[in-house]
Amino acid sequence: MNDTQVFNVVAIGHLIMLSMWGGVVATEAVVEIYPFKKREFAEATSAFHYWIDLLVELPLVLAVIATGIGLVYLSDQITRLHIVKIGFGSLAIGVNLFCIAVVLRRDRRRLAGAPSGQLRKASLMVLVCFAVGLLCAAAAAVLGFSLGLTRVG
Ligand code: HEM
Repeated sequence: MNDTQVFNVVAIGHLIMLSMWGGVVATEAVVEIYPFKKREFAEATSAFHYWIDLLVELPLVLAVIATGIGLVYLSDQITRLHIVKIGFGSLAIGVNLFCIAVVLRRDRRRLAGAPSGQLRKASLMVLVCFAVGLLCAAAAAVLGFSLGLTRVG
């Protein structure tokens, strides 16, 4: 395999991991809206989201970071546009990691007997993180695709 083929394989891996991550985040957003419709769902939402974050989302985020770093390493040159793209991607990841920390802490509070009102407050924070993260991820995706198109020519 030559360098271009290796780059393309890693870029496809980057896209697959990003798509799976996006699907998980969209599903989590649906789950997090439920406590605002029915109070009694606050506990179940907290427990479900905890395990989804630990078993599914965290590994996917790490895979996005790994493939992104792989692409940086395999790139012939890193332009300013690359740096802006990586900046938005890293911001989206940073917001997501913060969100995971909120979710893990919320579930510890649930186990300690926190009232559902407190759990719903954390749900609101999670939804705000989704909105901010989505904006940063959308910017990274647009820049990523335009870099890809420029590279292909
Ligand atoms: C939300 C996070 C991210 C999104 C939405 C995103 C999106 C994308 C997309 C759509 C591409 C184009 C892939 C292709 O050409 O087939 C791409 C390429 C790339 N990504 Fe990401 N990415 C993210 C995070 C990261 C991170 C954290 C890094 C670095 C650590 C990174 C580094 C790169 C590099 C170097 C390329 C290759 C650009 C080129 O074609 O020259 N990405 N990304």
